Amino acid sequence: MNRNSIQLQNLTKVFRHNVAVHNLSLKVEVGKVYGLVGDNGAGKTTTIKMMLGLLHPTQGMIEVLGYDPWRDGPNLKRLVGYVSEKREMYGWMSVEEILWFNAQFYETWDERYADEICRKMELPKIAKVKQLSRGMRAKLALLLAMGHRPELLILDEPSSGLDAIVRREILENIISVIQTEGRTVFFSSHLLDEVERIADHVGIISRGQLLKDAPLEVLKEKSRRIRVVWNGNMPTTERLHNVRLMQGAGKEEAYYTDDFREDLLDQFKAYQPKCLEVETLSLEEIFVETIRAAKESQWR
Ligand SMILES: Nc1ncnc2c1ncn2[C@@H]1O[C@H](COP(=O)(O)OP(=O)(O)O)[C@@H](O)[C@H]1O
Ligand SMILES: [Mg+2]
Repeated sequence: MNRNSIQLQNLTKVFRHNVAVHNLSLKVEVGKVYGLVGDNGAGKTTTIKMMLGLLHPTQGMIEVLGYDPWRDGPNLKRLVGYVSEKREMYGWMSVEEILWFNAQFYETWDERYADEICRKMELPKIAKVKQLSRGMRAKLALLLAMGHRPELLILDEPSSGLDAIVRREILENIISVIQTEGRTVFFSSHLLDEVERIADHVGIISRGQLLKDAPLEVLKEKSRRIRVVWNGNMPTTERLHNVRLMQGAGKEEAYYTDDFREDLLDQFKAYQPKCLEVETLSLEEIFVETIRAAKESQWR
């Protein structure tokens, strides 16, 4: 059996002269939660649409659940649950009607299961979709994507524009599905705290390029802030390796590294600083530093 649910190799998408996705490669293992994070316009939606066969890649290879999405779209769609960024739904239908309507597209639609989620989400079955609040609509979109018990759930910014409570509920739903059924989830987000809570593996994308792709634990394990208070003599930044200046200049400085090892500190200790402290970072801080480093290297 294939251990990867998703495999992208050197994927590129060019719109006229705009390179939306550039030479992107990644793998998502079966049963894992992959969080793709990036700012607006980074290329998340374009990547997702190519994974679903909704956009044709300019170059590169895509395999999702063993299928080529562009050629085997219908076969793949039976096995995937997808919530698009826009969460389009027929507003004139009631919740009950849209559930029935949606069920017709899937042989494996599980009515009892869908009902159970519907109850858990406290969705009013007789209400019209257009009357639902934003949060309710987001939950309904998730339910419509989950009712056929997909092997792979693909969510494009599942909780953007929602308040914290609904976001948490949505995340809890995702987590419970994954934990109880060992399904794979691929989701995009620009909300770092939510990615940090639910992802096993994180990809950081900026301007179409995947800058980081690692298990969350590894990312956090290797990234550190090194605070230093110099004692008169201090090195020039060129003398320090595998670190880059984060904040400050002069006596008190903070450096960032994404490849921390204890012996990195020796180069600081050589200058006998007054104070030397090592701190772990949140995913948000790692994200910001990763993007900054990429921008700086571009200007060099
Ligand atoms: N259909 C399209 N035609 C032309 N440019 C597009 C199209 N879709 C997306 N883009 C461009 O591709 C880049 C990536 O967009 P997108 O994948 O939507 O980013 P994200 O989802 O991360 O916000 C942006 O510069 C966007 O303007
Ligand atoms: Mg998008």
